Amino acid sequence: MAEKSFKYIIVGGGVSAGYAAREFGTQGVKPNELAIISKEAVAPYERPALSKGYLFPEGSARLPGFHVCVGSGGERLAPEWYTEKGITLILKTEIVKADLPSKTLTSSSGDTFKYEVLIIATGSTVFRLENFGIQGADAKNIFYLREIEDADKLVEAIKSKKNGKALVVGGGYIGLELSAALKINAFDVSMVYPDPWCMPRLFTADLATFYEAYYIKKGVNVIKGTAAAGFVKKENGEVKEVKLKDDRVMEADIVVVGVGAKPLINLFSGQVEEDKGGIKTDAFFKTSVDNVYAIGDVATFPMKMYGDIRRVEHVDHSRKSAEQAVKAIFAKAQGKEIEPYNYLPYFYSRSFDLSWQFFGDNVGESVIYGDRDPASEKPKFGAYWIKDGKVVGAFLEGGTAEENKAISNVAKVQPPAPSPESLAKEGIQFASKI
Ligand code: FDA
Ligand code: NAD
Repeated sequence: MAEKSFKYIIVGGGVSAGYAAREFGTQGVKPNELAIISKEAVAPYERPALSKGYLFPEGSARLPGFHVCVGSGGERLAPEWYTEKGITLILKTEIVKADLPSKTLTSSSGDTFKYEVLIIATGSTVFRLENFGIQGADAKNIFYLREIEDADKLVEAIKSKKNGKALVVGGGYIGLELSAALKINAFDVSMVYPDPWCMPRLFTADLATFYEAYYIKKGVNVIKGTAAAGFVKKENGEVKEVKLKDDRVMEADIVVVGVGAKPLINLFSGQVEEDKGGIKTDAFFKTSVDNVYAIGDVATFPMKMYGDIRRVEHVDHSRKSAEQAVKAIFAKAQGKEIEPYNYLPYFYSRSFDLSWQFFGDNVGESVIYGDRDPASEKPKFGAYWIKDGKVVGAFLEGGTAEENKAISNVAKVQPPAPSPESLAKEGIQFASKI
């Protein structure tokens, strides 16, 4: 059993680990001071590609093309970059024990790693249907999507079940992006979810009406208000049918499940303060334990703009929290201070020819505007959220770069809201003049 020591260790090798590595490089980390330990077999990459370009039937994205930091227009950090910087990438290595008092991590093969400063960047894991006690959920060809290994299995199945039937369970981010990807791959796609409309975490009923109609126009069979209750297997163990709670039975060659994710923090339970399902941090992503930081999906951090604490499961925050934590670590070592994290929430998604962005907070009254006819050649519409007389959130489908910047500015400035009628009438013009 080997023991290795590093000044800094990042546990987890996803988006936030990659952006943290770049910031370590910028701050002048010395050779052999930093190690990234990841259970994945590849250097950090832009995870959002897995549900989009990675699944395209032609011109699909493949590594090394989408290593971080290309997703935000930055330099691509291929494995050689880490070698040049003297940053040690310890791949295919799962940490199974973390002992914070002795500053020691242990891998599944029994190797130990000592650190002075630890950054927790373990991200999230999917909820599995087995956990809900759903019968037959262990059938072959039921897929989840989190890591590149999952995406490779799905790509294989897409090839082997060409022109087959796919059932997508869940109507959130994965449900919507994967239904589109499977349709583009010529599958006969049904998407099933229990909610009254898709993406209820963000969409209002009005917004969802457009996306549901658009998916139906593209040939996706949208089944709302019910859920998968059980799976029937073929003799070879592959999934054959899905039984729904409303007693409908759907044939399926493959099933893709996206019913939510939960942060991977069990290694640290009882050793750090937790809140809202994540590891509680300050505005510099320092946890309740000195010299231990948490970034990305696992961090529950102060949301300065809204005066509360939140966890965010989106890529923009994973990048920015990583940079903030590393800057804070170096500043602290030099006895300096940096500005507290002041995050403006930013989420986006792309599917078919659609592309939307959202900034701010989706609370209060909402106002929708624009062309949301699914039959339009280029639908373009948006929504604003109004709270306490101010516009606090803005959504835009089909916007230009300039218009997306304008809605981001609205969410940041929080201007006084005109009447809902005039906001609906002004539409994107309201944002453009702020
Ligand atoms: P991330 O999940 O990226 O990385 C965690 C890493 O830790 C993984 O490499 C994992 O293997 C490793 N790990 C975990 N436990 C470990 C252990 N015990 N030992 C060693 N390694 C361990 N967001 C968005 O805003 N727009 C988008 O379009 C998308 N699209 C998208 C698609 C898909 C398929 C997914 C799954 C997610 C998205 N997201 C997204 C969400 C976004 O990707 C997510 O918020 C970030 O990847 C979070 O970054 P983290 O670094 O926190 O976790
Ligand atoms: P999600 O929370 O977005 O959606 C889960 C969906 O599953 C919800 O619509 C919910 O109603 C539904 N659901 C719950 N239980 C169900 C059941 N038993 N049967 C059918 N449906 C059920 O989560 P997700 O789509 O699984 O995404 C996983 C993670 O990946 C999240 O952290 C998400 O933020 C991230 N992600 C983000 C993007 C993006 O930002 N564009 C894209 C893909 C993934």
